[in-house]
Amino acid sequence: MAFADELVNIKAIFTSLIEALELSDPYTRGHSERVGSLSVALGLELGLTTRELEVLKDAGALHDIGKIGVSKDLLNKPGRLTEVEFDEVKRHVIYGFNILKPLDQPELLDITLLHHERIDGRGYPYGRSDLPILVRVAQIADVWDALTSNRPYRDAMTFAKARELMGGNENTFGFDPMLLESFLRLTRFIFPEGDCDPDEMSRILDEIAGLNLSEDLAPTSTTLRA
Ligand SMILES: [Fe+2]
Repeated sequence: MAFADELVNIKAIFTSLIEALELSDPYTRGHSERVGSLSVALGLELGLTTRELEVLKDAGALHDIGKIGVSKDLLNKPGRLTEVEFDEVKRHVIYGFNILKPLDQPELLDITLLHHERIDGRGYPYGRSDLPILVRVAQIADVWDALTSNRPYRDAMTFAKARELMGGNENTFGFDPMLLESFLRLTRFIFPEGDCDPDEMSRILDEIAGLNLSEDLAPTSTTLRA
């Protein structure tokens, strides 16, 4: 089979997996795609290569695929999780890694396995602090989208509140500070009107995701600056 055909098949598998996940976890509908698009936007800003941007788009979309293995009741639980329940949810990174392993794409696997690690070593599953750049990019996009969309356990935060929480001095989420600064600046450019609902956010991000990465995108780091 020609490589191009093989690639089309792999992408089709990706799409099916995302569909399957969103069936079992309706609150994440659109989340996976937005994380991919937000990751690409930050990647463009950082001047990453076209291939890295493609990995970010796919991995952003698939990073939570392991939630398929977590009980629906837990994923949709309105209140706080007990420690035991949270331990179960945490396993989604290992499940995801195992699901995607046959695709043999190391960077995709890194993001899936490590997106809840922190650079201060206080994340999971391993407490690793040496995180590859694509992981550090995707995890920022993931948290932004989680904070600014409705969840079973809380309403969406305003963009200002999300910026305050993510960008505070204590580095609440253990992000790479330089990438975080770039990302927060970028959100002001991507969403110049300020707060918007997830559908509108998806629409704006679709324009970014719709950039043809396989063509001569070769972004300069100023592409997305105002
Ligand atoms: Fe996750």
